[in-house]
Amino acid sequence: MRLTTTVDWLMDKTVVPGYSRLGPAVRRAWWPADPAPDALVGRHVVVTGASSGLGEAAVVGLARLGATVHMLGRRQDRLDDSAARVRDRLAAPGTPAADLVSEVCDVSDLDAVRAYAAGLADQIDALHGLVHGAGVLPPERAESAQGHELVYATHVLGPFLLTALLRRLLREDGDARVVWVSSGGMYTRNLDASDPEGTAREFSGTDAYARTKRMQVVLAEMWAERLRTDQIAVHSMHPGWAATPGLTESLAGFAKVAGPLLRTPEQGADTIVWLAAAGPASVTGGCSGAFWSDRHPRSKTFLPAVKASPDERAKLWAAVTEAVGTEPY
Ligand SMILES: NC(=O)c1ccc[n+]([C@@H]2O[C@H](COP(=O)([O-])OP(=O)(O)OC[C@H]3O[C@@H](n4cnc5c(N)ncnc54)[C@H](OP(=O)(O)O)[C@@H]3O)[C@@H](O)[C@H]2O)c1
Repeated sequence: MRLTTTVDWLMDKTVVPGYSRLGPAVRRAWWPADPAPDALVGRHVVVTGASSGLGEAAVVGLARLGATVHMLGRRQDRLDDSAARVRDRLAAPGTPAADLVSEVCDVSDLDAVRAYAAGLADQIDALHGLVHGAGVLPPERAESAQGHELVYATHVLGPFLLTALLRRLLREDGDARVVWVSSGGMYTRNLDASDPEGTAREFSGTDAYARTKRMQVVLAEMWAERLRTDQIAVHSMHPGWAATPGLTESLAGFAKVAGPLLRTPEQGADTIVWLAAAGPASVTGGCSGAFWSDRHPRSKTFLPAVKASPDERAKLWAAVTEAVGTEPY
């Protein structure tokens, strides 16, 4: 036990072994059991960023466990193509087709998020899982429909609002989970809530990406505290380095160098699916607010001294609630 803990820790701290495909290949020898094959039968899970990469791979894993998966993306044609690939992957003689609902919702657009959440509340009585997978790394500064910096709107504002608006449906499930798909890139940034939109600095996609991925980890922790009494567990996680369209397009040089070491999308999505489906909630629920990778909670900072201060966290919460609206969250 102590040996595996040490090996696991070393793989994480030395980065390449833990983040590459070696991570799941080695850790599966000791990581917690798979969810039961019917763990999600009769349950609904929303996945944003479902038309590509890790989101699509998570849909495969969740649908395989019996969930009705609500696939969100910005374009219907991409969602339809993705749903067709998922159905192909899961097709087997004598088994029902994957239960997928694809819906257009640009999560960076706060009006679209409000409309989507209202529509979902008319369709279903309870929501088991909400996976915040949508991600972007644009080369140039861009703005959302409401004029917010796009990376911040996609990674922070939209998911925050969606979580708030779906809270009642999540509470109805009695054992719900919210999963924020963050990134190991967040280790390179401390929380800086003084300028969340990055207006005072020259735009860099990788900087905006890493800063907002740090915000996701902090907000997951803060939501976990608020939603504990509703029996809703909230987690953030990093998928390691996975060969997805997003990675190969946005970080082409890195993808080329790391090529043979990259995980498959399924390996990257494994912890997303496990967090949404492992049960009972006591397996993961006691760790609500944790940051996971390969089915294990990981440190949120390399050095304890750089932990976000309560003041900085409160400042972030205030900035986000001001941007998304005045409802009491
Ligand atoms: N791949 C990795 O190694 C890696 C590592 C660390 C973290 N991550 C994180 O994992 C998540 C998935 O990344 P990926 O590598 O799978 O990238 P990807 O292949 O580019 O997929 C990104 C997905 O996000 C969707 N999306 C983007 N903006 C959206 C918006 N405003 N509203 C709704 N959907 C939106 C895209 O859909 P459309 O373009 O069809 O709308 C697409 O389905 C991201 O959050 C990323 O930061 C990935």
